[in-house]
Amino acid sequence: MGKAHRKRIIMQIARTIQEVRDVVRQWRKEGLTVGLVPTMGYLHEGHASLVDEAVRQCDRVVASVFVNPTQFGPGEDLETYPRDFDHDCKLLSLHGCALVFHPEVSEMYGENAATFVEILSDMPKQLCGKTRPIHFRGVCTVVSKLFNIVLPDKAFFGRKDAQQLAIIKKMVKDLSYGIEIVGCPIVRESDGLAKSSRNTYLNEEERKAALCLSRAVLIGESMAKSGEKDATKIVAAMKEHIEEEPLARIDYVEAVDGITMQNVTKIEGDTLFAMAVYIGKTRLIDNFSVNS
Ligand code: PAJ
Repeated sequence: MGKAHRKRIIMQIARTIQEVRDVVRQWRKEGLTVGLVPTMGYLHEGHASLVDEAVRQCDRVVASVFVNPTQFGPGEDLETYPRDFDHDCKLLSLHGCALVFHPEVSEMYGENAATFVEILSDMPKQLCGKTRPIHFRGVCTVVSKLFNIVLPDKAFFGRKDAQQLAIIKKMVKDLSYGIEIVGCPIVRESDGLAKSSRNTYLNEEERKAALCLSRAVLIGESMAKSGEKDATKIVAAMKEHIEEEPLARIDYVEAVDGITMQNVTKIEGDTLFAMAVYIGKTRLIDNFSVNS
C-alpha cells in the first residue's frame, strides 16, 4: 500500500497484559475500532500485508510478537526459531501499527497454566495435524488468550496457513467470540516462493529446490482453471512435480474441503489444495484454493 495511506502514529510497545488492556481501554473510550495481527515475529512482507489490511479496516492496529511454545512439538524448532525484535518493530511502525505486544513466556503462561482450547473434531488432525498433533491446540490457546487480552473487532490471518485460518474461524464460531476473522492472500517472493520466517533456514541450493512448492501450486491452479474437476488428478500432478526435486521430501499433498478440512476427491464448493514438503531439514507449506 502507498505511504500516503499509512496512518502516522507513534507505536507503543507493551510487555504485559495489563499494559495492553490499558491502551486498548483508552482507545475504546475514544470510540476507535481495533484490529489484531498475531505473529511469531521475524516479520516479512507477508506479515506486513496483514498489518496493511488491518490499518485499512481498523482505526488502531495491535500486532503481537510471541514465539508460542505450546504450538511446538518435541524436536521442532522452538529454540532455533528466528527472532529479531528490533527489525520487527521497525517494520510494524512503518506499516502503521499502533501497539506491539511482546510478552515473555512467563507473562503469557503462568507456571501452573493448565487450560487449553482444543477443537475436538477431525479438523486439527488433518493435513499439518498428522505430523504436528499438538500444534493447533497451542495455536487455538494462544490466539484465544490474545483475543481475550486485546478484545479486537477484527483479527487478520494469512491464507498461507490455510488450515490455521479455517481452525481459527471454527473456534471463533464455536466459542462465540464477537470477532471478525479476515483472511489475507499469500505474499510470495518474486520467484514464487511463499514468504516465510523459516525460509531463512534454507541454504542456496535448498532455496532453489524450494521452488518446487510454488511450481506445484501453479501446475495445480492451471489444471483447475482449465476445468479439471478430479482433485486426485491434480494432487497426483503436483506430487509428480515435487518428486522430481531430489532435495524435496513430501509430508503431504492433499485436497480437502476448505471449511471442514475433510479429504475430497472432486472439486466442489470451496476446495483447498495444501502441501507440506521438507526441503532438507526445513518443512515448508504452500496451498491454493478453488471455488467452484
Ligand atoms: P506466523 O508464522 O508468524 O504468522 C503470522 C501470520 O502471518 C499468520 O496469519 C500467517 O498466515 C501470516 N503469514 C505468514 N506468511 C505469510 C505470507 N507469505 N503471506 C501472507 N500471510 C502470511 O501463524 C503464526 O505465526 C502463529 O501460529 C500465530 C497465529 C501467531 C499463533 O502463535
